Amino acid sequence: MHTEAVIRTWELTKRFGKTTAVDELTMEVPRGEVFGFLGPNGAGKTTTIAMLLGLVHPTAGGAEVLGCDIRKNLGPALRRTGATIESPAFYPYLSGRDNLRVVGLCTGGVGPRRVDEVLERVGLAGRGGDLFRVYSMGMKQRLALAAALLNEPEFLILDEPTNGLDPAGIQETRAMLRHMVDEQGKSVFLSSHQLHEVQQVCDRVVIIDRGHVIAQGRVDELLRQREAIEVELTEREVE
Ligand SMILES: Nc1ncnc2c1ncn2[C@@H]1O[C@H](COP(=O)(O)OP(=O)(O)O)[C@@H](O)[C@H]1O
Ligand SMILES: [Mg+2]
Repeated sequence: MHTEAVIRTWELTKRFGKTTAVDELTMEVPRGEVFGFLGPNGAGKTTTIAMLLGLVHPTAGGAEVLGCDIRKNLGPALRRTGATIESPAFYPYLSGRDNLRVVGLCTGGVGPRRVDEVLERVGLAGRGGDLFRVYSMGMKQRLALAAALLNEPEFLILDEPTNGLDPAGIQETRAMLRHMVDEQGKSVFLSSHQLHEVQQVCDRVVIIDRGHVIAQGRVDELLRQREAIEVELTEREVE
């Protein structure tokens, strides 16, 4: 079966000194789905995403994003991709709206209407004028999502996008991601350390621990193995 992939990795590996953060990771993420990248803290999710975005160089192996090799010509893929990585960082003394304008400038400029549109989409319409430094963690996450959406990307790579959001914000974000995939034909790759989150929003999942893939497949199929996976993740969490 041939499925057009938005991400392909083969034996992707990253070592930091003696730590192997990502260990021969091989996966394929099909287009047109919400795909979960699940693993406990320290599993290697952010490092993998950083390699996919060209921010960290792999030690070995390789990957493609939207058909572009991450070592050779990632530019065309990045122009069609919106991303967030780890905790949202913006200029503290600029408003949310002005921060988005700055992000827009980096990619050639976006109109004020587009900035207001994405603020509205993420539920920050009334708070766009507030300084970033007074935003709550949930508002910061929403702003990061707004920045990722600014250029109407066909593909979103989101690193734990619901961390710090309140339950309503989590529900809104999940609904928005599903809407983008189901109604707008976009693709989403999101990392999470919460099995129930992946269960609620994702079509398919890769589960990693210590940089290794420990399970992958359709979420509904993997749910049958749910107890085993939960035990594995929980034990890792309390180490
Ligand atoms: N820049 C770095 N230097 C050294 N070790 C790192 C660096 N970045 C990540 N690590 C280590 O790599 C492992 C995976 O981290 P990370 O990718 O952040 O995991 P996750 O995002 O799943 O929590 C951890 O052991 C972490 O301490
Ligand atoms: Mg992380």
